[in-house]
This record gives sequence, structure tokens and C-alpha cells, in this order.
Amino acid sequence: MTFSNAHSRLPERCWAEIDLAALERNLMAIKNTLPPHIRYIAVVKADAYGHGIHQTVARLMHAGIDMFAVANISEAATIREIGSGWPILILSPILEEEQDFVFDYDIIPTISSLDEIKRFGETARKRNHPLPIHLKIDTGMGRVGVWHEQAQGLINAISDEKYLDLQGVYTHFSSAENDLSFTDLQRNRFLDTIGNISPAAGKNLLIHADNSSGINSFSDGNSFNAVRVGLLQFGVTPYPKSMLGRALVEPTFSFKTRIGLIKDLPTGVSISYGGTHKLNRPSKIAILCSGYGDGIPRSLSNRGFALIQGERCPILGNVTMDQTIVDVTDLKNPAKIGDEACFIGKQGDKAIRLEEFSEAANTIPWEILCSITKRVPRIYKTSFATS
Ligand SMILES: Cc1ncc(COP(=O)(O)O)c(C=O)c1O
Repeated sequence: MTFSNAHSRLPERCWAEIDLAALERNLMAIKNTLPPHIRYIAVVKADAYGHGIHQTVARLMHAGIDMFAVANISEAATIREIGSGWPILILSPILEEEQDFVFDYDIIPTISSLDEIKRFGETARKRNHPLPIHLKIDTGMGRVGVWHEQAQGLINAISDEKYLDLQGVYTHFSSAENDLSFTDLQRNRFLDTIGNISPAAGKNLLIHADNSSGINSFSDGNSFNAVRVGLLQFGVTPYPKSMLGRALVEPTFSFKTRIGLIKDLPTGVSISYGGTHKLNRPSKIAILCSGYGDGIPRSLSNRGFALIQGERCPILGNVTMDQTIVDVTDLKNPAKIGDEACFIGKQGDKAIRLEEFSEAANTIPWEILCSITKRVPRIYKTSFATS
């Protein structure tokens, strides 16, 4: 037996389950809430929010999306290797040294400054290759994009640069999940600004603003003709629990592990590094085969839960790099080594949603998805969507 063979036959100690059919159903559910002419830009940066860019992108190509959006050239190049023909928008600024790759991989850069217009225009002219671009307008996010009051100069400069082909304009909301009046202000600032784009440029222009939370307040299918969706397509809702989203989506991501060891310990024993939890009764504890080295946040120490036998078992003490300790004293049936424990997802009729998991960890679902480490194999459910 070779070592590489052994590696591929090892059982999983912890794993992420990715439901690609649910991804496809979510895509349909989101599209069904929007007017039919609205184009769908699938945001798949950061390894498709930790789901694995190859499998996610292949499934979205099959399911029917109009454009991909990523953070950098390397992610865009990966999409190009998976399939040709889909437009790819890069959402982040592009470094000068990366510029040639934009042309090599046929990518659409985001433009936020006169400097970018100048240097992309020059390269496009040298290559005798007109470059499609999207102009980003900062309407209150304070990040990428030209500040809306300064946008006119860029709009003029782009129309003077014949090698730049303005194919889209967009903005990004800072607080669409919880501040509808600020989101409205951003929408209005954006629409006022793009009113100054010449009708000739505007004919085939993609006009987009809405991310996962923006979609909930999307009502203007006349002014906007595209959305840019990341989190929601993975079945995670960014808005408060009290708010029912328009699109009924289902989670695509679960995180599971196994019990590696079970121990009975007396009252008074302290658990894990720093002894932050002291047993207040004779207890049965289970040592789970995953920790922060796999992406279980240390901030869940003494706060989070794992489902075992469909019951919530509290995390005791500090989460460690490779193990997390939970209390299994109260389980009806004795826990066994090798039993499955579920940190995110469903077990029996109980579930821990990513929204709850990330709130307990004092962070946001986006960060949790991006923090599941390379050590964790992704296991894909590849059945076809039925609804
Ligand atoms: C510019 C931009 N548009 C769209 C998205 C997608 O946002 P969401 O994941 O909330 O749908 C992001 C994500 O960070 C983004 O940076």
C-alpha cells in the first residue's frame, strides 16, 4: 500500500458537506423574486465563500447565471479554466503589475479613478484591444469606487477614451440588511449620478447595486437591470432573524465532525487550556475531532453547541487547534466514539444554522465560511435540483 493510497482511503475526521442541488434551487428562488429581465451576477470570490470555486462555478454555469464576480485575477483565471464564455467582473482594484492579465484572461475590471482610466486606456491602445469596464460609484460605502460627487470627471474621461468600453456601472450598499433609509439614500445618489451618463453609452449598460440584503428592498426594475449575489445563494440570510427574506433559500453548507474520545470526569475538573470551565457535576465529555485549525472559532469557547444524536451539547472550555470538548452527560443514549457531531447543519429534526453559529461566535456568516480551513475536505452532494 502506498502512502498516497492510504490518504485517499482515510475516513473523514471532520468535513464540510456542500449541497449543490440546494445551491441551484436557491438560485432559482432568488431569480423568481426578481423581474425576469434582471441579470444575475454570481459572486464567487474567496473560493466561492468557502464552498470550493470549481464545483460551485461549474454548477452555476449549468444552472444559468449571466456573469461571475470575483475579487482577483487568480480567481478569474480559475473560472476561465472551468468554462469559457461567461463574463467575469473583478470587484477589487487591480494592481499595475496585474494589468496585462486582465487582457489575457478577458476580464472586466472595476474602475474607480482617473489613474485607472489612464493606465487601462494606454494598455488597451498598445494592445489594440478595446477593454470592457464597469465604473464603480461610492455612494456611502467608503471603499472601492469614485465618490459620487466626483464621478462626472470619470464619466467624461471614459467617454473620451475610445479603447475603454463602458459596459456597466455599479455601487455597493454598506448596510442594506438593517438600514433601509441609508440604502435608499445610496440608491438615489447612484441614480442621480448615472443620469449623467450619455444615452449612447447607456443603451447596453448593466446597472447594478443589490447584494444579498439589497434584494429585499429591490423594487426598481426600471432603473436597475442586474443584481450581484453572494451569501444568499448559499442559503444564508444576512438580515435579522425577525425579517423573512423574499427568497426562501435553504442552506448549502454543513460542517460535521466525529467523536474521537469519551471520558467520565469528576466534579471540579477544569477543561481545556486556561481551565476556563470547571465541571460542576460528574460529567461525561466527548472530545470532537475538530478545532480552530479547521475553522471552529475560538470565540465559541464555553458558548457554542454541537448536535449529537440530534441534541444540543454545549462546548466546554476553550476550543483548541484540533479538538473541541462538549458535554454529553445528558444524552439519552450513551455517546460512542466515531459518532457524528454537527456544528453547522441539520441532525435529526434539530439544526444549527450558520446565522446562529456565527452570532454565537460574535462574527458574521461570511467570515465563518471564509475561515473553514484547507484541512477540511469538502464533500459534494451532486444530485439535481428538482424544483
Ligand atoms: C462589491 C460586492 N458586491 C457584491 C457582494 C456580494 O455580497 P453578499 O455576499 O452580501 O451578497 C460583495 C461581497 O462582499 C461585494 O464586495
